[in-house]
Amino acid sequence: MLKISVPASSANLGPGFDVLALSFKLYNIFTFEKNDKLEIISDFEEYNNENNLVYKTMKQVFEEFGKTPSPLKINVGSDIPLSRGLGSSATCILAGVIAANYYLGNKMTNYDIYKKAIEIEGHCDNITSQFYGGLSMSLKENGEVYYKKMNVPKGMKCTALIPDFTLETKIAREVLPKEVTMQDAVFNLSHCLLMLNALENSNFKDLKLFFKDKLHQDYRAPLVNNFHEIVNKAYELGAYASFLSGAGPTIMVFRDENDKEFNDKIRLYLDTLKDKWTIVDLEIDNDGTIIEVI
Ligand code: HSE
Repeated sequence: MLKISVPASSANLGPGFDVLALSFKLYNIFTFEKNDKLEIISDFEEYNNENNLVYKTMKQVFEEFGKTPSPLKINVGSDIPLSRGLGSSATCILAGVIAANYYLGNKMTNYDIYKKAIEIEGHCDNITSQFYGGLSMSLKENGEVYYKKMNVPKGMKCTALIPDFTLETKIAREVLPKEVTMQDAVFNLSHCLLMLNALENSNFKDLKLFFKDKLHQDYRAPLVNNFHEIVNKAYELGAYASFLSGAGPTIMVFRDENDKEFNDKIRLYLDTLKDKWTIVDLEIDNDGTIIEVI
């Protein structure tokens, strides 16, 4: 049996649109076994068929090698909530490429797998952090992908505020402008660099200033009920940083790991809103995807 564990990730990290991501110890676990027919088992009935993203990805990679996959039993254990900005679909694509490579006889290098998953997913941020773990930055140019892993900051807690409504990445990208001003580009560039420097040095007091963004958050805010109010409330309660996780709608909070009251206080506030928000403390994952043949 092939078992692939892929961590959740939060992409963008404020001004790092499409570039940065951080992975967490919250996993989608995929198992693959030879079977007499295609059988897909997951918590989502609508995906237990050929339209499953894991299977579709596998099939695509097989086709690129001129082959079709043999029947398999695929089990998807999903702890990562779907369409919430925590990289769930990227985990399916990564698992699909890894499984295809395994059943094709390991013809791809790790870099080939990584690059193929990015080609299928479209953006490098989530895939990079999920594959290699930790805090990552990445770029695509001329068909190649380049990435670096940074030291994960010590001394802060990551808390995800996850609403009961979903937001499709496709919709969250459609609201973005096709072009931005030079002023906004420079704003993000400068904030992103200083934010990374502050994170790397655990200089948490400056994060609020450096986490500002002009490329995606404000455009997406109308798609996330109470986005600005929640972000402001988190800051009022002492958060180091509070921002849209990936394309949303989850709001991520970086905060003092010794603050034992933050979650109770934000809970009281979130309970006054019309949607239901779940508060989840997440530990940073530094290992990335784990592949086991059992
Ligand atoms: N960087 C991507 C976005 C993450 O914000 O749209 C979701 O794939």
